[in-house]
Amino acid sequence: MTTTLPATATLHEQAARLDADDTLADLRARFVLPPDVVYLDGNSLGPLPAAVPAALDAVVRRQWATGLIGSWNAAGWWEAPLRVGDAVGRLIGAAQGQTIAGDSTSVQLFTALDAAAALRPDRPLLVTDPGHFPTDRYLADAVARRRDLEVLHVRPEDLPDLLAADGERVAVVSYSPVDYRTGELYDMRTLTRAAHDAGALALWDLCHAAGALPLDVDGLGVDLAVGCGYKFLSGGPGAPAFLYVARRHHTRLETPLPGWTGHTDPFALADSYTPAPGIARARIGTPPILSLLALEAALTAFDGVDLARLRTKSLSLTGFFLRCAGELLTPLGFTPVTPAEPGRRGSQVTLRHAHARGLAVALAEVGVIADMRAPDLLRFGVNALYTSHQDMLAAATRLRDLTEKADYDPSPPTQGPVT
Ligand SMILES: Cc1ncc(COP(=O)(O)O)c(C=O)c1O
Repeated sequence: MTTTLPATATLHEQAARLDADDTLADLRARFVLPPDVVYLDGNSLGPLPAAVPAALDAVVRRQWATGLIGSWNAAGWWEAPLRVGDAVGRLIGAAQGQTIAGDSTSVQLFTALDAAAALRPDRPLLVTDPGHFPTDRYLADAVARRRDLEVLHVRPEDLPDLLAADGERVAVVSYSPVDYRTGELYDMRTLTRAAHDAGALALWDLCHAAGALPLDVDGLGVDLAVGCGYKFLSGGPGAPAFLYVARRHHTRLETPLPGWTGHTDPFALADSYTPAPGIARARIGTPPILSLLALEAALTAFDGVDLARLRTKSLSLTGFFLRCAGELLTPLGFTPVTPAEPGRRGSQVTLRHAHARGLAVALAEVGVIADMRAPDLLRFGVNALYTSHQDMLAAATRLRDLTEKADYDPSPPTQGPVT
């Protein structure tokens, strides 16, 4: 991605040259993708990694069918939440022993928010983004009710000022580095530091960042983080999520869901709860082994991948798509809402158009799978492990053609479930 292209090169020539220079192109073989589909929805549900079917087959036919209950020990099922947690930890910059995988993002978020508030017991405010994903906002409200706190909704760009003015009252700030609708990337370092300068804790939701860009939770001093396994990590529908808690908080970490597997001696089946040492105290109940082991196999798609290079390719793809949009789509009434500045862009491009829903449906019919968020945002998620510049151009070209010919239903029925 270092070739300089002549200013007169067509978008087709640019895409071909950028793909020819792409040293990560072979990674696409690590995924099973239908041949005629441009898949730009991996920020919602990652596609099937090629390693997963054989791994799951072995888990089911060998470990479960033959090994039966003995597989909890012999096949390492019991340790899977910690082992898979560490595998995710390597992608988010967490040294081992601080990340656990096994429950849903919503459950992990509840645990993280409540535990964070408990670590700052004398502070009455929980601060979160008014544009945060709904579950993050609902759970902040739920934890606030439970703990008699007040929730403040503050845009990320206004958070440093709020913390400077009123920070000593803030227990925890809960944000995502990437806005799930617009794809805008916020500066985790600045916001984490601002929280710490005020004595508050920083909790990050990494759903739209883990596996998409290099992260450094240890280096930034992040206190807690959560994220899901089914978006850029491609762990499969409903894949287990992860929870990171910085080691310095482990001894005081009080989970609101003290299940038996987080007990220091789970098989003693004791009358009262004594938390396990370390991140194991964030275990809750019997882990979803099939899903966990599918996620573990999926994560091998990242083996040997330098996340900084993946990020460079992702920015090249999203930057190129913004160029395509500028040339082909803005004249037709599309407005890019994702920042053009690379440092402010996650791994997604969002275009505003009044017929976003109808266009997403029509695009899928011509082999481009993207999605939309009501009322008018068309989202194109970019996973650089398997996406090419020619994919991005195909998406923009087909979208232009559909729009020019008005070849779509402007108000189709509401989409079924998407996550
Ligand atoms: C940013 C963010 N947080 C939380 C969630 C909720 O995750 P789950 O439904 O797996 O609990 C999602 C789901 O898409 C999300 O995008």
